[in-house]
Amino acid sequence: MSRPLVAITHLDAMQANLRLARQAVPGARTWAVVKADAYGHGLASATRAFAAADGLSLIEYDRAIWLRELGWQKPIMMMQGMYRAADIDSLVRYDLQPVIHHAGQCRMLETTPVPRPLDVHLKINTGMNRLGFMPSQVQQVFQQLKALPSVRSVSLMTHFANADTHSTAPDVDTQIAAFREATAGLDAEISLSNSAATLLQPQIKSDWIRPGVMLYGGAPGAQTAASLGLQPAMTLQSQVIATQSLRTGDSVGYGSLFVADKPMRIGIVACGYADGYPRLAATGTPVLLNGVRTRVLGRVSMDMLNIDLSPVPDADVGSDVTLWGEGLPIDEVASHAGTIGYELMCAVAPRVRREVRG
Ligand SMILES: Cc1ncc(COP(=O)(O)O)c(C=O)c1O
Repeated sequence: MSRPLVAITHLDAMQANLRLARQAVPGARTWAVVKADAYGHGLASATRAFAAADGLSLIEYDRAIWLRELGWQKPIMMMQGMYRAADIDSLVRYDLQPVIHHAGQCRMLETTPVPRPLDVHLKINTGMNRLGFMPSQVQQVFQQLKALPSVRSVSLMTHFANADTHSTAPDVDTQIAAFREATAGLDAEISLSNSAATLLQPQIKSDWIRPGVMLYGGAPGAQTAASLGLQPAMTLQSQVIATQSLRTGDSVGYGSLFVADKPMRIGIVACGYADGYPRLAATGTPVLLNGVRTRVLGRVSMDMLNIDLSPVPDADVGSDVTLWGEGLPIDEVASHAGTIGYELMCAVAPRVRREVRG
């Protein structure tokens, strides 16, 4: 029998989350962000669940080409543009739209002849300070790109650093003001909002939104996914593969981090850090055992973790364990490991069996 650990992708949840994004900003078109293998959910699943999106957005060239091979015919945005001039060949051949965020990429477009001009996205650094031209450069770069024979259209975009809060600078209003000033008078489509801005700042108007994590049921800020109307798109599920009875004073696992203060039954679950479950998940991290909440005990090891069977006295080998997903928000599990749901969904290991439902 195969190992009972499985990551289930829920297509209906992804579809519902996309609908929510589109309803949040009526009239805007949607780039569904599918980098990192659709945040760990699988690109083939994404092409099915996001058929209603207006475009897909990612950074990996081999994956973008695969999207075309899977039959995706709508626009594809390459969110980090070209890494080297040779990438322009793929852009042309597979009809991919690069983000242009530094002068070297303009030079690549200038010096590489293309049989067919490209639609490009000019990225503006309005305060995130990762990618993008400074606002003072935008008017000149826009005109430079428009004049290139290798460019057909130029749209404008920026990315928010703190769309999930008003209390951290730069806030969304500051970034939008910088964007508006930098782009004044330019006739171009614009793309601004990630998931946090789409859900929490729907008053922001732009031609395109770029939601990522919300499409997979992850909350982009402190609010819970359920309170935002999001449905979990991945359930990581396994089973108890052994049980132990601890006496008072007995410990479990490497480092003996958990010591029983009374006699108790524990279950050993087929899931460990080599599967993508975070090793830093401490004692108390929630899991569902036959649908009932219980907790991780002691240190997560490579292939196994330990849970408290006390809340389900009849639990035994073969009992079902949900690590995250339906009934147990991924963000809650992540917070017990000092991280965010984004990281957990992206980190599910290749050895984990996959199932697609819905
Ligand atoms: C430029 C850009 N747009 C949109 C997104 C989607 O962000 P989120 O997953 O928070 O919605 C990302 C994610 O990193 C991004 O880099």
